[in-house]
Amino acid sequence: MWDLNTTGVATSVGRDQVTFLAGFDSEQDGQAALAAVAGSPLVLASPAPLLEPVDPEGWYQPEAQSDIEIPTTPPVNLKLTVGPAFGHGHHPTTAIALDLMSRWLRGGQRVLDFGAGTGILGLAALAMGAERVTAIEIDPAAIGIAKLNLGANRPVVGSRTMTFHTEIDDAVRVGRPYELVVANVLVGVHRANAQPIIALLDPAGVTPPCPQTARTVIVAGILNHQLAEVVEAYAPLKMVDSIEIDDWVGAVLQ
Ligand SMILES: C[S@@+](CC[C@H](N)C(=O)[O-])C[C@H]1O[C@@H](n2cnc3c(N)ncnc32)[C@H](O)[C@@H]1O
Repeated sequence: MWDLNTTGVATSVGRDQVTFLAGFDSEQDGQAALAAVAGSPLVLASPAPLLEPVDPEGWYQPEAQSDIEIPTTPPVNLKLTVGPAFGHGHHPTTAIALDLMSRWLRGGQRVLDFGAGTGILGLAALAMGAERVTAIEIDPAAIGIAKLNLGANRPVVGSRTMTFHTEIDDAVRVGRPYELVVANVLVGVHRANAQPIIALLDPAGVTPPCPQTARTVIVAGILNHQLAEVVEAYAPLKMVDSIEIDDWVGAVLQ
């Protein structure tokens, strides 16, 4: 990929496949890379490699700091160091995830924040009363930033535990099971991790089972036309709620 002008790569490891995400400055470079890997025995024919436009302005923000109001009752403010990590809080995908969390997160839940970035959603979960949070973030630099943010926001989130890991397998060993998972990641990352995430959910949910307390996955980072594919990846869970802002959509799956 580096020979094909990628601006950055990320991998996510699923049970029987590795998803490889590469960024390009132009559609032309992306198409050239697709053509170069086509036919390789290492690349699956289905799902076929695909090229998706992303909003570079929204994806990585250069702002160093962010002060963001979290929709708790009453609202509280998180003070975040952002740097090169994603998660200043003002991007529609994060706003959608926060709003869905405020609707579906109840006190006392064990929460997995998958694709934590600055840690904003995990910190918000603690502020909303989660018992503890496990944060998974593939980028070690972002984990450093998220740890800083946990320290800086102790007055808001209290002394409850938030642990950080780079691999979903660590979430199996450490914090399982979870009553609620929030995942604001690209569609390819959802696709590769949906079933491993479901395997981490508490099969019983919180007792007694009812819509507000059943095992729950909140998904975001999805463009409108990608929603059906993401919901399908999380089968047998079904969509019970959703929010749309601009072309972005987030959903609650149970
Ligand atoms: C859109 S950002 C979301 C950040 C933050 N949770 C928010 O809502 O603002 C997605 C994050 O997922 C991380 N990521 C991508 N693939 C991942 C994977 N396979 N495992 C864990 N984290 C991943 C990226 O590094 C990035 O920080």
